[in-house]
Amino acid sequence: EYIYKLRGIKDIEEKLKKKLNIHEVKVVPGNLEENQYMMVDLGKTTAALILSKIHDNSIIGVTGGSTMAAVAHGIEKPSKSNNVIVLPARGGIGKEVESQANTIAAEMARRLKCQYQLLHASDTLGQQALESILQDPEIQKVTNVIKTADLLVFGIGRADTMADRRDLSPEVIEKLNSHKAVAEAFGFYFTREGDIVYEMKTVGISYCDFQRISTVIGVAGGANKAEAIVAISKLKKSMILVTDEGAAVEILEKY
Ligand code: G3H
Repeated sequence: EYIYKLRGIKDIEEKLKKKLNIHEVKVVPGNLEENQYMMVDLGKTTAALILSKIHDNSIIGVTGGSTMAAVAHGIEKPSKSNNVIVLPARGGIGKEVESQANTIAAEMARRLKCQYQLLHASDTLGQQALESILQDPEIQKVTNVIKTADLLVFGIGRADTMADRRDLSPEVIEKLNSHKAVAEAFGFYFTREGDIVYEMKTVGISYCDFQRISTVIGVAGGANKAEAIVAISKLKKSMILVTDEGAAVEILEKY
């Protein structure tokens, strides 16, 4: 049972916005850590926000993960804007097809009734293979568009969970631990202060691109993601955060 009740959500949003010092915060009632069904609400709230931000010629970048999959499925009506395109923000990070950025971009585009493009680049490529993939005209066509994205919607993860999910090598895990990485977003791992510890070798947006994108929406729920959310909020003041009451209360009380 949470101290803050439903009618207190606006109050939590205001407090959290101030605490994290970011542009906008949306809080969905409940705690994802205790109730997985909350993911549907988190998805729908983010989807409505995305629809409100889309305009003619919008180029939308999306990442992978279970939260972003819920966001794609949360879109319930097509966009009224013209010439909108959705693309994966970074190359194939992850294993399960349902939560791949490619799948999410395609699903989102199907629901928005807009265009999409896919990025075919695995995250297990060696340096040389990656460099030659970067020269590929088809890949370049897509990455060039991604770099001009004006709306980015991304999932926020815990560094430990994501390292596990991606089977990172013992050396990389050691690096993440010794540098105290707590958060992961779009293939980058960050400390609580928002400093980069490690970057997945893949194609797509760079950290500079991220800083340049005018509208970025980070999505994460569950009290266990509190510290990761705090870290990611350090990256960009103009960021919009969509989270749940569980994470929000944890942040307000502990950080
Ligand atoms: O990058 C972070 C992850 O996308 C978070 O994944 O939504 O499955 O927790 P998740």
